[in-house]
Amino acid sequence: MKPLKIAVSKGRVKEQLIALLKEAGYEFADLNNRKLEHVDTSGRISLISVKADDVTTYVERAAADLGVLGNDILYERSFDGYELRYLPIGRCRMCIAGFRGFNLSDRSFVRVATKYPKRARDVLEEKGIKGEILFLSGSVELAPIVNLADCILDIVETGKTLEENDLVVLETVGQISSVLIANRVSFKLMNERMMGLLNDLETAEKRGTSK
Ligand code: PRP
Repeated sequence: MKPLKIAVSKGRVKEQLIALLKEAGYEFADLNNRKLEHVDTSGRISLISVKADDVTTYVERAAADLGVLGNDILYERSFDGYELRYLPIGRCRMCIAGFRGFNLSDRSFVRVATKYPKRARDVLEEKGIKGEILFLSGSVELAPIVNLADCILDIVETGKTLEENDLVVLETVGQISSVLIANRVSFKLMNERMMGLLNDLETAEKRGTSK
């Protein structure tokens, strides 16, 4: 039987997912290499490492049966598939940040730099503030510093990047964590196996919270 294929975003989330899977009884023997696919020692699941922005594409096209990505990125997509459950990994906050003392509601027009244009548009609309959204693909904190934008909408995990660039959180607009998503057809064809995995993850999560 072929393993259930899970597309996961490289980096922090992948490391946390591997730790969660270990708690759930899935071990990976050989992770210290640059391979992009790793099958667990029992052969039940395989992790493929992709860019966070590409996870939904792999899952929609059934190149992966499941995917793990932040709900910050999922919010930006019109994903055609199932959202199975939130996972206790990839936790951070979605924040408006800028220079200390900057007040969004004082402004009739703001320039917001972000990797999350849909979320930024929705936040401005909710607040009834007119503005321009500048899409950047990274190093967003630089935008207010070089006067490309008045503030940013970005994820904050430890707060270190803001601090080291003399910026502060002006407002938290949401909580972020990873979501497990599934391809529609895989969900039907491999339902029992997916449910088994979900069950194992849930048990591991409960054990984790009771520790
Ligand atoms: C993310 C985010 C912030 C930083 C927040 O960027 O866009 O820049 O992490 O983390 P912190 O609060 O722990 O400092 P990422 O590391 O993904 O790099 P990027 O700028 O290339 O998007």
